[in-house]
Amino acid sequence: MNGLHEGRVVWVTGAASGIGRSTVEEIVAEGGRAIGSDLPSADMSWAEEDERIAIIPGDVTAPDHNAKAVELALKVFGRLDGAVLNAGIATRDDLFGSSMELFDRVMDVNVRSIVLGIRSSANVMPPGSAITVTASTSGMRGDPGMWVYNTSKAAVINLVRSTSMDLASRGIRINAVCPGPTKTGMTDGAYDDGWHEDLRRRTPLQKWGLASEVAAAHSFLVSTKASHITGVHLPVDGGMSANSGQFTPPPFSL
Ligand SMILES: NC(=O)c1ccc[n+]([C@@H]2O[C@H](COP(=O)([O-])OP(=O)(O)OC[C@H]3O[C@@H](n4cnc5c(N)ncnc54)[C@H](O)[C@@H]3O)[C@@H](O)[C@H]2O)c1
Repeated sequence: MNGLHEGRVVWVTGAASGIGRSTVEEIVAEGGRAIGSDLPSADMSWAEEDERIAIIPGDVTAPDHNAKAVELALKVFGRLDGAVLNAGIATRDDLFGSSMELFDRVMDVNVRSIVLGIRSSANVMPPGSAITVTASTSGMRGDPGMWVYNTSKAAVINLVRSTSMDLASRGIRINAVCPGPTKTGMTDGAYDDGWHEDLRRRTPLQKWGLASEVAAAHSFLVSTKASHITGVHLPVDGGMSANSGQFTPPPFSL
């Protein structure tokens, strides 16, 4: 490790598992300190004994949770240099079969909470700080039965573009990371319902992504190494979004 985050403090949401947990692990392995937040029901015990990590339970949709996470960073570590706004939920839903409640909940968690997170963190961050958001390749195109999720993640990609303009004059960058199919708690079900092999074959690199591979992108973009990058969305998807969708990529095994 190279001390990429030495002296810096980064807040990560959805830190109990998957991409969020991996990102916290990457930040502290690179010399930084982290605030890890997740739902009160989520298991953050893996971080409890680590003094480089401060934990705060809460729901990202609540404005006061976002404010408290930022306050904790200032109280415990004295500063906040980065925010990885990663918490999210995935859904599949019949276009004609549901009420709008599910749509509203997904937009609340996946989009509205990102606005709350940006506002809370950017208000205390010094120039040179950065924010990253976990969007998805599902925000770049459409998937059958996933119109709600697709809409929420597309909104986040353009929220990042748009807010990069407003944050630039404060010296704060913001970028999105777009994972393709990635092995996490969210996609455990893919193994049971048979999508796993289908999605693997549709990925040019012929494998599912690892949470650590997505965390590496967050870590770079939130670091000062990415000092001239803002407003972009970076796919971490084994090439899936490069495919026009007309042909299945050729199979290979290494
Ligand atoms: N796994 C994939 O294939 C994949 C692909 C593209 C995008 N993503 C995105 O990656 C992000 C992280 O998901 P993951 O794959 O690591 O799944 P995960 O289920 O392992 O982690 C998501 C975390 O977010 C937390 N969370 C959910 N709602 C919350 C709320 N209201 N307040 C606070 N925390 C909340 C969960 O408790 C969980 O710990 C999500 O935004 C997801 O949409 C995942």
